[in-house]
Amino acid sequence: MSLRERRIVILGAGGHGRGVADIFTLSGWRVDGFLADAKDGLVAGLPVLGPLARAFEAGFLDGRAAIVALGDNGKRALISRALLDRGVALATAIQPSAVVAGDAVIGAATMVGAGAILGVGARVGRFCIVNTAASVDHDCVLEEGAFVAPGVRLCGGVRLGEGAFVGAGAVILPGVTVGAGTRIPAGSVVSGSRF
Ligand SMILES: CC(C)(COP(=O)(O)OP(=O)(O)OC[C@H]1O[C@@H](n2cnc3c(N)ncnc32)[C@H](O)[C@@H]1OP(=O)(O)O)[C@@H](O)C(=O)NCCC(=O)NCCS
Repeated sequence: MSLRERRIVILGAGGHGRGVADIFTLSGWRVDGFLADAKDGLVAGLPVLGPLARAFEAGFLDGRAAIVALGDNGKRALISRALLDRGVALATAIQPSAVVAGDAVIGAATMVGAGAILGVGARVGRFCIVNTAASVDHDCVLEEGAFVAPGVRLCGGVRLGEGAFVGAGAVILPGVTVGAGTRIPAGSVVSGSRF
């Protein structure tokens, strides 16, 4: 598929979806609209083009990219993988004010929010969220579908397993591994080698 026009459809039209749409608009993409269940009309001035399932209708996404902007880690990863299986191009959303080290790696369909920081050697997998003003320090690894909420501090060498969730403002001390699917409450301080 040619993405020369840089057109995109956003799956999800909640607060996260609107934030992702804003990133693509700021980055010079044409946002064609949202797909969302139980919503219609306009969201943030952009049309709701149908339910999420429309993304799987033959030809619907031809000529445009997509991103799944759902806060639920499981659903985001599941739908993203299904779209990739069908050959859909998934785009990555990096807010222009994020600070990303030169050698940091960011996977497809991941969102990095306003004021977020990715340190040297950070590796963020596919379908992740690094939300507003979160910092992911040197050599951290985020496996697929991990979610780092606003204001989180991941110290150096932290590893988040697949689909792990770190609540707003939590601090994870250096070298800690957070297991797949684990939820860390907002405001926590996590120490020790494994949570
Ligand atoms: C830890 C968490 C998952 C618990 O959710 P839950 O099991 O549904 O718990 P509840 O909301 O029913 O709260 C139970 C009690 O714990 C308190 N509580 C919940 N989370 C807390 C937290 N992180 N720190 C301190 N107290 C907390 C609630 O106020 C409530 O207290 P109460 O019984 O005196 O009213 C959730 O509160 C949390 O921290 N979520 C993170 C939210 C976030 O960061 N979102 C970012 C989106 S971008």
